[in-house]
Amino acid sequence: MSDEKVTRRNALNYLLGSGITALGIGTVYPIIRYIIPPPGQEAGTSSISAAKIGELKPNEGKIFKFGNSPGIIVLKPGGDPKNASSYVAFTAVCSHLNCTVQYRDDLCEIWCACHNGHFDLNGNVLSGPPPKPLTQFKVAIKGEEIFVSKEET
Ligand code: FES
Repeated sequence: MSDEKVTRRNALNYLLGSGITALGIGTVYPIIRYIIPPPGQEAGTSSISAAKIGELKPNEGKIFKFGNSPGIIVLKPGGDPKNASSYVAFTAVCSHLNCTVQYRDDLCEIWCACHNGHFDLNGNVLSGPPPKPLTQFKVAIKGEEIFVSKEET
């Protein structure tokens, strides 16, 4: 009888211990995965084809995917589509609260609709709450593709 109680107690302790261990792992694992995210595409992305020549008209912008984040490329007003210096490219993530910016052809500015942030075509803040300029990317033309790279200009 006494042996049976000990066995039951041991079984209950084992189950309780297993449950607590599983709960601990289930709680800690997502926290660790959040703190140390898996290497994504962004980590290895240093250059990407953002557009093809002729895809953008002068005074037009396009959002493209740069790794895990959006980027924006603009063919400046009056710009030559075959000349890399006619393009500007930036991260499309607003420096205020991370909304995605867009190009406003009516203003010739990059604009964040979330809180009415305005950036010029150098990425500098013109007005609104963004505290920092947009990070600028390098633009290069190879063949018919317009490549954007992360090295800051
Ligand atoms: S998130 Fe862009 S202005 Fe606030």
